[in-house]
Amino acid sequence: MDQKLIQGALTYGRRFVRYGKTASYIPELASKNPSKLGVAVCDLEGNILTAGDSEEKFTMQSISKLIALILALEQNSYDDVFCKVGLEPTGDSFSSTVRLDHLTNNKPFNPMINAGAIAVTSTIRGASLEERKTVCINFARKLLGSSKLDVDYEVFLSEARTGFKNRAIIYLMRSNGIIEGNCEEHLELYFMLCSLACTCRDLAVFAATLANNGVNPITGETVIPLRTVKLVRSLMVTCGMYDYSGEFAATVGMPSKSGVGGGIISCPIGKCGIAVYGPSLDEKGNSTGGLKMLEYLSENMELNMF
Ligand code: DON
Repeated sequence: MDQKLIQGALTYGRRFVRYGKTASYIPELASKNPSKLGVAVCDLEGNILTAGDSEEKFTMQSISKLIALILALEQNSYDDVFCKVGLEPTGDSFSSTVRLDHLTNNKPFNPMINAGAIAVTSTIRGASLEERKTVCINFARKLLGSSKLDVDYEVFLSEARTGFKNRAIIYLMRSNGIIEGNCEEHLELYFMLCSLACTCRDLAVFAATLANNGVNPITGETVIPLRTVKLVRSLMVTCGMYDYSGEFAATVGMPSKSGVGGGIISCPIGKCGIAVYGPSLDEKGNSTGGLKMLEYLSENMELNMF
């Protein structure tokens, strides 16, 4: 790894920050500084290189969909999870409802769209909502190797107050028999996962763990079973960048997942973990500067898997 390359990615990415804007549908995210930009790369020996605002905290948003899925598969059988959600890309935006009511078996298409992630979250177990929250936070801390990871309560409350689209989605799935139990509790857990605050450095370790077949490269501990890692990486390729996933695979070629908080992680298999952050988003919800940094790193570090 070369610090000059990471710095080069940042300098390149900065040119594109002005072409986007912060997520406006979650009020607390709208007020973030759109010019922030950071990157961290963790190799499979656990060395981390960073540039820019890599220590800035931001909320994971949809990147947490990976954590929810990994936890759900740890607590449940594959059949119990995948009777509620499919494995096919939609080509629609992440919060779209158009396919939810036309399905043959009512299942949301995949765990990377909001509907699918909410269905997955509903399978996360615990004796009470509080216990389920604690299980999720502890699990996220373990996956990111960061004991201080916590919820950004301002973002959480902001989304909990305004998340009407997600409320519509969960009640539609409740009426279709996909969701069981208390919808408001499942939603609260989902919003909490989206509001977990982390840095590029934390996420680069998680990404490197995915690239390293589930073994945390810093501690050497296996934290994700290989079967789950393979499934998650395949979903990242086909669905991780919303309705930009196809073009991103064709041009950048790394399993990746983005979130409307401005983060994106990439896990080129057997190579390294990358996390970028820039809250200025394009119209599909991907970080403008972040995308360009990933393009730059893929090209210059030869990370394109295809
Ligand atoms: O549920 C939402 O709309 C946000 N908390 C997360 C959306 C996001 O990052 C993009 N989703 N795939």
